[in-house]
Amino acid sequence: MLNHSSAPTLDFDLFDTDVMSQPDHYDQLVRETAPAVYLARHGVWAVGGHTDVHAVFGDFQTYSSASGTGFTNIRKQENWRKPSLILESDPPEHSKYRRIMNKLLSPAVLRRLRTDFEQTAERIVDEALDRGDVDLMADLAEAFPFNVLPDTVGFGKENRENLLIYSELNFNAMGEKNARFHAAAERAAPIMDWVVENCRRDAIAPDTMGAAIFDLADQGELTEEEAGMLIRIFISAGMDTTINGIGFTLKALAQHPEAWAKLRENPGLARAAFDEGLRYRAPSPYIGRTTTCETEIGGVRIGAEEKVILFIAAANRDPRQWENPTRYDIDRKTSGHLAFGFGIHACVGQMMARLEAEVIISTIARKVAKIEIIGEPEYQSINWLRGLSGLPVRLERA
Ligand code: HEM
Repeated sequence: MLNHSSAPTLDFDLFDTDVMSQPDHYDQLVRETAPAVYLARHGVWAVGGHTDVHAVFGDFQTYSSASGTGFTNIRKQENWRKPSLILESDPPEHSKYRRIMNKLLSPAVLRRLRTDFEQTAERIVDEALDRGDVDLMADLAEAFPFNVLPDTVGFGKENRENLLIYSELNFNAMGEKNARFHAAAERAAPIMDWVVENCRRDAIAPDTMGAAIFDLADQGELTEEEAGMLIRIFISAGMDTTINGIGFTLKALAQHPEAWAKLRENPGLARAAFDEGLRYRAPSPYIGRTTTCETEIGGVRIGAEEKVILFIAAANRDPRQWENPTRYDIDRKTSGHLAFGFGIHACVGQMMARLEAEVIISTIARKVAKIEIIGEPEYQSINWLRGLSGLPVRLERA
């Protein structure tokens, strides 16, 4: 291991409540201190510049995922679950599961989901409008994905809130194993068996994406256990991220009347509004890699077998990449934002997330004249995820 004494260093606890309440400040600190900064408190490297984060994402030979994409080196330390088949693997293993997920989430499959999604969105927005004063998260941003994603996968209708408890543990576990993680593990302990049982073949509804995964097991492409693990990924990777991305986008739209007016005039801008929302506030702010050999980032030497944490949210606001990065701009060309990662592990569910967001945001844009914020935002406290937990709003019918 290289000596860290001469390395650019910062000494703060990334998961301290006070630090987490000022994400922009600490993202900027990491990004502007050096191309790679040693976070002494955690013994990991942090990278926040857009060019460097992009380059690390693109180099899977030097920056491996198989040792885990959070703080824990899962090859050396015990972890709370078995490694994810797709997220926490390198080629050639990764390629096999990636091919399967690509097939499951193909454009043709997603096209078939649209009509059902649209009907659910109409119902959810109508119910919210009937009440007028609602919570932007619970009643819109969460209500929609929380309905359509479990239906698409084929989960039973009962006790679905357990899926969110599991997801919360997943995102806490990627950070330090601190008090927040232990509290989440305690909350999740009584429902872990429920999760495993509800990902089994007999619990999954027919003609769903989950059933298609078990068909692949029948064809010999996966074992029965691997099929259950792939189904679990939909909850761990696909639900809270989408909920929070939609939540941040709706809040930004409520706070930017010019952008809202453009969207009202042309609901077809919903996808652009979402991508800019993800650039502006990335729900998945960090992702980790482990170096396979000695290397360097912008002249900073990094040893082999070291954790390198990519600060996605910082890169998405890098002024060297984006003009006026702290401005939510619905007309911005957002290609190159890193909220879905980049390279061989780039989010395989991004077209599903975009479809969900497009349907709910465009439905809101058609039916709602105004979203007025009538209370203070509250934020989630999860180590490895950013999102609102509540925002009271008043909806005016169009
Ligand atoms: C706004 C919503 C979402 C965000 C911000 C997001 C973010 C990300 C990011 C940053 C990565 C890269 C991980 C890495 O490089 O190690 C990723 C990968 C992944 N995401 Fe998403 N995601 C979202 C929605 C979804 C959805 C809806 C699904 C499932 C339907 C999903 C499934 C996955 C999977 C399986 C991977 C691993 C891909 C691989 O390793 O090849 N995600 N996601």
